[in-house]
Amino acid sequence: MTGKRGTAVREGSETRPVEDRSNGSIIEARGAQKVYDTGEIKVHALKGVDLSIRRGEMVSVMGPSGCGKTTLLNCLSGLDGLDGGEVLIEGEPLSKMSDRKRTRFRAEKMGFIFQSYNLIPVLSGVENVELPLLVAGVKPREARRRAHEALALVGLDDQAGKRPAEMSGGQQQRVTVARSLVNEPAIVWGDEPTGALDSETSSEIMDLLVELNEEREQTFVLVTHDASVAHRGHRIIRMRDGLIESDRANGEES
Ligand SMILES: Nc1ncnc2c1ncn2[C@@H]1O[C@H](COP(=O)(O)OP(=O)(O)OP(=O)(O)O)[C@@H](O)[C@H]1O
Ligand SMILES: [Mg+2]
Repeated sequence: MTGKRGTAVREGSETRPVEDRSNGSIIEARGAQKVYDTGEIKVHALKGVDLSIRRGEMVSVMGPSGCGKTTLLNCLSGLDGLDGGEVLIEGEPLSKMSDRKRTRFRAEKMGFIFQSYNLIPVLSGVENVELPLLVAGVKPREARRRAHEALALVGLDDQAGKRPAEMSGGQQQRVTVARSLVNEPAIVWGDEPTGALDSETSSEIMDLLVELNEEREQTFVLVTHDASVAHRGHRIIRMRDGLIESDRANGEES
């Protein structure tokens, strides 16, 4: 696995070259803590997580329900703030960024694949996929072209004109994969990205993610309950009760 090529980001875009101050780690958590305070009870969902993920790694996160996996993704990606510790992306602390910068950073560098598809029902497949590009200011014609490309990549270009309700679950999930990849993000976060799919469709989606990981050096962090999905990655992190219980290269596990 390399960790160097990522210093040059997309060509021909407004994105500046990334100055790598991070010793090759694209994501780092230092003593990350998260407490949910519902008024009556406090839930210590992350109890001081230390973690470093290198550019181009594909990391699986496993662990029992409620152990903090989704919370970890939300905090690493800056969707949610921490109550202690720090998260650095490409060496830059998320907490030091303004909300605006953090949002822009996410739009430019991150893609999200969640289990609930979050597709917009009144929009067609291609319209759903092009949306993040339009939000990021890409011209409509260019956005449409790239959305078709992304749909072709997931084998769905023939469904581009359909609305989500007219597609199968697997097809909808592939639209969300296309949407998460359309801006060629450096980091793709997945929370049970194949959770709603049968094993065949799930393995097709994983083939695609592995290919993108290898060809484009995109970094993937995928939460999954499915061991066959987890074992496609380079590394498996197991969480328990708000902490990392084990963190091993794939294949090292007994
Ligand atoms: N918004 C919230 N308010 C209060 N408590 C929360 C909130 N979100 C999560 N929690 C609690 O934090 C802990 C971690 O939740 P989290 O969603 O991260 O678990 P998870 O590992 O993703 O579980 P699952 O596998 O079921 O998705 C749980 O005890 C959960 O009840
Ligand atoms: Mg979860």
